[in-house]
Amino acid sequence: MGLKILGIETSCDETAVGVVEDGCRLLSNVVSSQVELHSPHGGVVPEVASRQHIRDMAPALERALADSGVALQDVDVVAATYGPGLAGSLLTGLNTAKALAFSLGKPLVGVNHLEGHIYASWLARGDTESPADSPGFPLACLVASGGHTDLILMEGHGIYRLVGRTRDDAAGEAFDKAARILGLGFPGGPEIQKASENAQDNDLPPLPRAWMRDTLDFSFSGVKTALLHMAQNQGLYPPEVDDSSRPEDEERAARLVGELAANFQESVVEVMVVKTLEMAKRYNAKGIVLGGGVTANSRLRAEITRASNLPVIIPPPVLCTDNGAMIAACAYFQYERGEENGLDLDIDPALPLG
Ligand code: KG4
Ligand code: ZN
Repeated sequence: MGLKILGIETSCDETAVGVVEDGCRLLSNVVSSQVELHSPHGGVVPEVASRQHIRDMAPALERALADSGVALQDVDVVAATYGPGLAGSLLTGLNTAKALAFSLGKPLVGVNHLEGHIYASWLARGDTESPADSPGFPLACLVASGGHTDLILMEGHGIYRLVGRTRDDAAGEAFDKAARILGLGFPGGPEIQKASENAQDNDLPPLPRAWMRDTLDFSFSGVKTALLHMAQNQGLYPPEVDDSSRPEDEERAARLVGELAANFQESVVEVMVVKTLEMAKRYNAKGIVLGGGVTANSRLRAEITRASNLPVIIPPPVLCTDNGAMIAACAYFQYERGEENGLDLDIDPALPLG
């Protein structure tokens, strides 16, 4: 019988609970998305998010246990994200975990959300081994989400060095803002990806790449501004309010949106791929690990896999975006190292990694 860990994740706008055995066997993974609540605002509204976590927590917990076939009293360890993230959102998940750990008399493990994204790569698919086990350390990790774009050198379990980060917008934030400029929905990443797929014979000039020479840091605000200017020049921004436009105008607008989305995606993806490979080379990494919502992007996944000579480990898209299973996987390795938390553990909205 393996060690069964219940993982709770509520750092942003997903109420997520997963059950994982021995840090790698996924028994269940339930994600209650709040996308519909936030999408009219074009972004996550923290107050709305924290209230909805309270409503969704108990049903998500019940379903995750039912799906896993593990009874509550048979859970060995309770884990939750305690940072970084939105304070009001983190509180719901962490307090739920504390209440469960206390009432069951089981250990509590607090998990760093970014470390959780890395450990999504330890979740095995079916009966296979943990994919991230095979290359060995050090691993070059790119964590790209709505709040972070970090290059993290993982020298061993629990040993991290932050070697690159964004100096302004996170990659996911840039995708979300770009989608808003182009009149696409929220969250922007999947919308930009979808719009790009329809872009053929692109005649527009490419958008700039912020290479930021001699550093592994990123900057994504310039490409977003360049996109805005191009959308203005093409008459796409601000969006047309009168709906008397002719079908041929609408067709032209849709084509341009696709082309601009594709150019934006290309710019962000190319910089992330080149910098991740550069980091791997500089630090003699044995493999590359991707995690975070942005790494669900099909263009990024294809490009980095094509360009790398090292093994590239990317979780399936559902495990790239926020989920509870990754928190449970990460907690397993912490627990094995003897890292447990007391019930006085507090949230840390700005918790760093490495
Ligand atoms: O990791 P995540 O689910 O939550 C945070 O920790 O922030 O990441 C969410 C971000 C959003 O900005 C979303 O637009 C982006 O991930 N994202 C994508 C894709 N799917 C989600 N970005 C690009 N392409 C995608 N397919
Ligand atoms: Zn995340």
